[in-house]
Amino acid sequence: MASIALVPGSFDPVTLGHIDIIERAARHFDTLIVAVIRNPQKTASLFTLEERQELLGECLAHLPNIRIEFFKGLLVEFAKDHGASAIVKGLRAVSDFEYELQMAQMNQRLSGIDTFFVSTSPQYSFLSSSLVKEVARFGGDVSSMVPEVVQRRLGDRFSEDT
Ligand code: PNS
Repeated sequence: MASIALVPGSFDPVTLGHIDIIERAARHFDTLIVAVIRNPQKTASLFTLEERQELLGECLAHLPNIRIEFFKGLLVEFAKDHGASAIVKGLRAVSDFEYELQMAQMNQRLSGIDTFFVSTSPQYSFLSSSLVKEVARFGGDVSSMVPEVVQRRLGDRFSEDT
């Protein structure tokens, strides 16, 4: 049976840290679905769903076994609907661990679906979409943190605000 896994997240926007995890996870599953959440609990997103999908599509075009889809509600319901048997998450630091473990255990209890953690490459362990946005908003250099297309889009977005 083909193995299908989900990599869920907000991807607002996709960073080189996300891409690293997705590239490495894609080697282990027949299909990897990048599942972009529609209704994040967090603050309003900077990029629309369609923009996030477009940026992910451009940055992951080199990977043949990737699909990008949206989901809302419980991740495990989306996983079941799409025949996914695994969730993949990146772990950056110990600070990620407690919450990620709790979510993994909850998702396991709800559905039997296992979560596989991939250790973030050290050069990306400090990286998050939120920090990238903050740095870019104030004109900092994010060229080593996001793909060029994302860097350009951030520049455009924040120049609209000034
Ligand atoms: O990129 P993010 O914002 O850290 O991603 C968080 C995400 C989307 C992976 C997480 O919030 C999630 O799985 N939300 C779906 C709702 C759900 O299933 N909640 C129960 C988790 S135990």
